[in-house]
Amino acid sequence: MNVLILGSGGRENALAWKIAQSPLLNELFISPGNPGTVKIGKNIPLNIMDFKQVEATIFEHQIELLVIGPEAPLVGGLTDFLKNSKKTCNLMIVGPGAMGAQLEGSKDFAKAFMMRHHIPTAAYKTFNIDQFTEAVDYINTLHPPYVIKADGLAAGKGVIICSEVQEAKNTLDDMLLKGRYGKASGKVIIEQFLDGIELSVFVMTDGKHYCLLPEAKDYKRIGEYDTGPNTGGMGAISPVPFADESFMKKVISQIIEPTINGLLADNIDYKGFIFFGLINVNNNPMVIEYNARMGDPETEVVMPRIAEDILPFLIETASGTLKNGVIKTDPRYAATVMMVSKGYPGDYETGKLITMKKLDSTEMVFHAGTTIHPASEQLVTAGGRVMAVTAYGKNVKNAFCEAYRKANCITFEGAYYRSDLGKDLI
Ligand code: AMP
Ligand code: GLY
Repeated sequence: MNVLILGSGGRENALAWKIAQSPLLNELFISPGNPGTVKIGKNIPLNIMDFKQVEATIFEHQIELLVIGPEAPLVGGLTDFLKNSKKTCNLMIVGPGAMGAQLEGSKDFAKAFMMRHHIPTAAYKTFNIDQFTEAVDYINTLHPPYVIKADGLAAGKGVIICSEVQEAKNTLDDMLLKGRYGKASGKVIIEQFLDGIELSVFVMTDGKHYCLLPEAKDYKRIGEYDTGPNTGGMGAISPVPFADESFMKKVISQIIEPTINGLLADNIDYKGFIFFGLINVNNNPMVIEYNARMGDPETEVVMPRIAEDILPFLIETASGTLKNGVIKTDPRYAATVMMVSKGYPGDYETGKLITMKKLDSTEMVFHAGTTIHPASEQLVTAGGRVMAVTAYGKNVKNAFCEAYRKANCITFEGAYYRSDLGKDLI
């Protein structure tokens, strides 16, 4: 079978690494891919938001299964476009259509979905541009901290938590009236603050049945001990020690199953991954957010913990023949350390030479923001998050120790990573 993965980050490198191990695979393509994926498949440069170009690539390379990595093409309707095209209507696609992807693309849609299907989540109210005064009045009835979210996609930056009432009002002004995130903040959600520890749970679903994947915890803030601004994710660990059997039972019965049943009841054809961003509030799981894709850097620890061929599950997901179950998991812990550019998540420079000579093996060193410099043909940085360095261990501490050992063998000017990962769990 020929498989195409869309995307260019650490997530796609990890997906490619796992899919490449399948005996069912004929050729693996990654578009646009990165210098990490080029070692395990064939990179095809293309703009993944140019749906015609994607369609032509699928046709040319006789792709049978497509895995859509990032949210933008999902929310933009790539799946519907390909399903409606004569050339690609029989293609198997892991990734929901635009309607299903609204679970991620619109927080207002996701909240209304959760309310309708009695899925535990924070209380909220939605306000549009014409309701600025009402939004301010509502803030006046609440206590800090205030959670304010842009409705649409904002590259992980659309959630502001304010400790002061004036800051909350300024944030509303910024989002609703000044259009800080453009169309994405044309509506805002004001939400009850939830206090607890977060984790990410993943399923593959064909819209009727689901298969549970290993859970993970990511580290969002840039600074040690969860300080400073949010990032795309600075590291991750799987399994999550507090996600024990009784907690996961609640996740399944109170969140996963009502979500799948809700999709069915709402007639939403959903074939793909669902990422449940959860928070543990006094041992009860609540949903912070849905994503219509896998997490990054969670995928860099989830894929290494899958102990069987993933391709049959992806095929069943895309073709609507999945059975309920849990994928076989490796009992070891997997930890990933994200190496980032100096300045990230603010402004940063790119083009810094990366050396990995001291590494004994590049196995599970997943590339995120790297490129081959056209003139020097050397590996250089090309993004904020540069590399996710993953390792196994017999517990949280061992897995991170080994990941740090590997990360220490990789150098580039201004390289930074958090050195406290996992300490909160030990
Ligand atoms: P989201 O993009 O919705 O996942 O939000 C980004 C981050 O903001 C989450 O990972 C949480 O750390 C935080 N957050 C979002 N909603 C809440 C909430 N209701 N209570 C507390 N923290 C929240
Ligand atoms: N690591 C969080 C995300 O992928 O959204």
